[in-house]
Amino acid sequence: MTLTSDRNAVTLQPEEFRLLRDFISGYCGLYFEESSAYFLERRLQNRLEQKQLTNFLDYYYLLLYGQEREEELGKVVDVLTTNETYFFREPNQLKTFCEEIAPELLQKKKNRRLRIWSAGCSTGEEAYTLAMLALEHRDLQDWDVEIFATDISQRVLQTARKGVYGKSSFRSTDPYYEGRYFHKLDSNRSQVDDSVKKLVNFGHLNLLQPEQWTILALFDIIFCRNVMIYFNLESKKKMVENFHRKLEEGGFLLLGHAESLMNISTSFSLRHFRHDMVYQKPHSVAPGIS
Ligand SMILES: C[S@@+](CC[C@H](N)C(=O)[O-])C[C@H]1O[C@@H](n2cnc3c(N)ncnc32)[C@H](O)[C@@H]1O
Repeated sequence: MTLTSDRNAVTLQPEEFRLLRDFISGYCGLYFEESSAYFLERRLQNRLEQKQLTNFLDYYYLLLYGQEREEELGKVVDVLTTNETYFFREPNQLKTFCEEIAPELLQKKKNRRLRIWSAGCSTGEEAYTLAMLALEHRDLQDWDVEIFATDISQRVLQTARKGVYGKSSFRSTDPYYEGRYFHKLDSNRSQVDDSVKKLVNFGHLNLLQPEQWTILALFDIIFCRNVMIYFNLESKKKMVENFHRKLEEGGFLLLGHAESLMNISTSFSLRHFRHDMVYQKPHSVAPGIS
């Protein structure tokens, strides 16, 4: 038993750290360097307490074989993921989406249907931003726009479905959008309008378990921003390879600004637009040639 006397908290031993770290990384991609062992210890201590366990090795076995393993894995994800997000994040990329990517796709597609995936949507601000932009986009008015937004954490998805947000979510929002698409609940909170909600479907999905995605139809655009920065190379490769399968030919993959496909994949081409650079799944036959 490794109870420390001062804090009455269990200490994470180096071998336990490695077992848990590798297991968590394989399960959901989140990867912790040795220097983050203390973070992992602190975040999981409360789970050990709840489960009345006295060492991390027992907790590891619980995650591996315990009857309540699925539920507990959900709790692990909730305490370990970083869910930071806000409306209209990374405006240059959104400009590229509205002014260059959408028009290009609109010209090419014959079925007047645009399918967008916000992968790792957190509390929903990214997906609702895309819905507001679609509602405002003159050329999309008679298009069927479907936004599918997924996350591994049930906790953030609950917030996303409610659509109630505090001030920090609006830190980068033009007052026009706040006035037009939100209803003030009180001085601190606003609720997103049903016209925006209607365009978004939220779902629970682990990006490292592609077998959960097989039923999804192909997408025209995938936004996966600020998710893979927390993954190791192996998990990044696995996820990106599956994004490639889930994109239409000529479809786009938009990553966060700190993220790139360097050393991860050569299956995409890098398109230079006016305001940003974006990855695109190449056509197997160049468009126009049959
Ligand atoms: C920092 S937030 C990014 C939110 C939004 N995309 C943005 O850029 O503002 C990262 C989100 O990715 C989710 N995530 C992490 N690993 C995941 C996985 N394996 N499958 C699905 N979602 C995951 C986390 O739960 C978290 O909500």
